Amino acid sequence: MRFRPGPFDSALYWEIKVMQFTTNSLENHWMPFTANKDFKNDPRLVTRSEGVYIWDHKGGKILDGSSGLFCCAAGHGRKEIADAVHQQLLANDYTAPFGLGHPGSFELAQKLSSILPDTIDHVFFANSGSEAIDTALKMVMAYHRARGEGQRTRFVSRERAYHGVNIGGVSLSGMVKNRETFSGVMPNVVCMRHTWLEENRFTRGQPEHGAELADDLQRFVETYGGSTIAACFVEPIAGSTGVLVPPKGYLERLRQICDANGIVLVFDEVICGFGRLGKPFAAQAFNVTPDIMTMAKALTNGAQPMGAVAVSDTVYDTIMNAAPDKAIEFFHGYTYSGHPAACAAGIAVQNIYQNEGLFERAAELSDYFLDAVYDLRDIDAITDIRGYGLLAGIDVKPGAAPGARGSELQKKLFWNGLHIKFTGDSGILAPPLVADRAHIDEMCDVLRKTLQEN
Ligand SMILES: Cc1ncc(COP(=O)(O)O)c(C=O)c1O
Repeated sequence: MRFRPGPFDSALYWEIKVMQFTTNSLENHWMPFTANKDFKNDPRLVTRSEGVYIWDHKGGKILDGSSGLFCCAAGHGRKEIADAVHQQLLANDYTAPFGLGHPGSFELAQKLSSILPDTIDHVFFANSGSEAIDTALKMVMAYHRARGEGQRTRFVSRERAYHGVNIGGVSLSGMVKNRETFSGVMPNVVCMRHTWLEENRFTRGQPEHGAELADDLQRFVETYGGSTIAACFVEPIAGSTGVLVPPKGYLERLRQICDANGIVLVFDEVICGFGRLGKPFAAQAFNVTPDIMTMAKALTNGAQPMGAVAVSDTVYDTIMNAAPDKAIEFFHGYTYSGHPAACAAGIAVQNIYQNEGLFERAAELSDYFLDAVYDLRDIDAITDIRGYGLLAGIDVKPGAAPGARGSELQKKLFWNGLHIKFTGDSGILAPPLVADRAHIDEMCDVLRKTLQEN
């Protein structure tokens, strides 16, 4: 494992800069998904990161228990990635992606295809998970039109789903706060019920109960007509809303209903992908192959913005073959689709995953990780734990208002030396795949201490 040598100069630069900040000087940056006023009163600024740790502007060392935002699977500060991006920018910083190419995007697509399920071989690049979702929505539309089934205009998603923040992703979203302000989203989206069930509390791995929740899709077929439904989008494990592991048989049932009704099945693997579940993707972990998969985050270890959509040969060939010779087949793409620097990062990252056997390492570490996390269940504040692979969700009793306790805990944990992403009152643990047992112990020690104080 090669990390940057010694303290990074720019970290010192930022530490000095941070000392000069006043509350007012933080006002110019409108921060995303952040309580801006609260944050700016007591900022938490990260000035350095290496391995499984980040350092704050006061010099505190913090274990990164969520791999940033589920991105940094290979750990922070990987020299191989920085070198690859640096060399790429010197050699060729940008290539117009429409009607022109550069070798890196083809190499990365080929590498991805080698770890994707056998029938999924074609990769389209975007710049984020949200763009990957919008791209997938448009691919589904193009696919049905190419088959002469343009009447399929309805999309199925799920309560407690998170598919990013673009209009497509918000339309599919099952999170009220992400939707209620933005009423003008795509019509014709219906949500299946989420898969959290009371009787599955504290289940480790796939719950026994709940496969029948997939029959919500069958009910939509019976209510709206199967031939009007274009696609069903699901996160195999709903990540951001607290790690809802699919009940045994649930994903298989969705696959069957889709097959029986010509519905495209899309797995949003933005969190689950790249070894988080001990296999390259959730499709392999759960042995259910979708038609389309979206990915981002750990695709580049978070070092460059990038998203991607991988599609089956059937979807790809249908869209390709429907277009006249020499015509553009899919009227979609981004200025930065397959950006050379992002591709260079992606290639370097895939090499790290392979050379260091990180997906296998995640599988090996999973039992130790889950044992440690489930040992926390005696803590009074904890109401449920769910987990699979190196991913776990911990629910805490709500405070004065939903989410209030989660957000206070996130801050307290940070100052106690642990970064964890909270959504509402659910904390989501996803350590870098390079973590070892001592890191897991440290993470759970800080959690115990902090949760017992509350
Ligand atoms: C499952 C899933 N889909 C899509 C997204 C959106 O990705 P991005 O924030 O890169 O747009 C996320 C982000 O957390 C996600 O978890």
